[in-house]
Amino acid sequence: MLVSAKEMLTKAKAGKYAVGQFNINNLEWTKSILLTAQELNSPVILGVSEGAGKYMCGYKTIVGMVNGMLEELGITVPVALHLDHGSYDGALACIEAGFSSVMFDGSHYPIDENVAKTTELVKICNEKGISIEAEVGSIGGEEDGVVGAGECADPDECKMIADLGVTMLAAGIGNIHGKYPENWAGLSFETLDAVQQKTGDMPLVLHGGTGIPAEMIQKAISLGVSKINVNTECQLAFQEATRKYIEAGKDLEGKGFDPRKLLAPGAEAIKATVKEKMELFGSVGKA
Ligand code: 13P
Repeated sequence: MLVSAKEMLTKAKAGKYAVGQFNINNLEWTKSILLTAQELNSPVILGVSEGAGKYMCGYKTIVGMVNGMLEELGITVPVALHLDHGSYDGALACIEAGFSSVMFDGSHYPIDENVAKTTELVKICNEKGISIEAEVGSIGGEEDGVVGAGECADPDECKMIADLGVTMLAAGIGNIHGKYPENWAGLSFETLDAVQQKTGDMPLVLHGGTGIPAEMIQKAISLGVSKINVNTECQLAFQEATRKYIEAGKDLEGKGFDPRKLLAPGAEAIKATVKEKMELFGSVGKA
């Protein structure tokens, strides 16, 4: 059964580790992530952007697929199904469809509007026992057409949003979606420290997990990050393994064209990436 992300993140914050949010794109992605979480006895959050939601035929299809897998793969670790960077309407649609967690990204609105919309969604999520993530200070880079400049969050605005009763809070600290540029200045630990001081026990979320060096991840966790989002890294691992399979001509041998064979190296590569991240984040054995 899908669970809210509240309990797993409260435990993570107290235990000084982070739970990974891995974004899903299709059945293979979802299966690889769930099997790895189960094997490592780790809690996990499946992230779905609005674009990926459309790609997978809509939120109800995703809820059906994930619930089916939980049962038929015998998944017993805590799993949250979470809308990533949702709009107000997207969040409502996911709540309706059976997601156990949503993010409302109001970071592009003036703070008053972000507060107003987040307040309304917190009320609905609380009534249904669904966790809700809010965002202050946009995450840089481009994700599904949402482009952010990557500014650092204002710690006072973070406190304002945290006090609305959200479950977890994403604060921009110089992080970027996708690959980091050569001249990236790194995470602003000063901002993170100030945000944690203002928001206390609130689990903080680090977006743009792809390509952040291990020591920065560890330092971020020590400063209150309890959820880390990873998307591009699984895509790159899948792409590289699939490319190797084709370049080695394996699709031309025997039944190598069978999608169950063609997609297998990519699925295995996703498992390896998820394992590596769970080990780095410290969530192994924490289910
Ligand atoms: P990356 O694609 O950089 O890993 O970012 C993922 C993310 O933050 C999803 O919200």
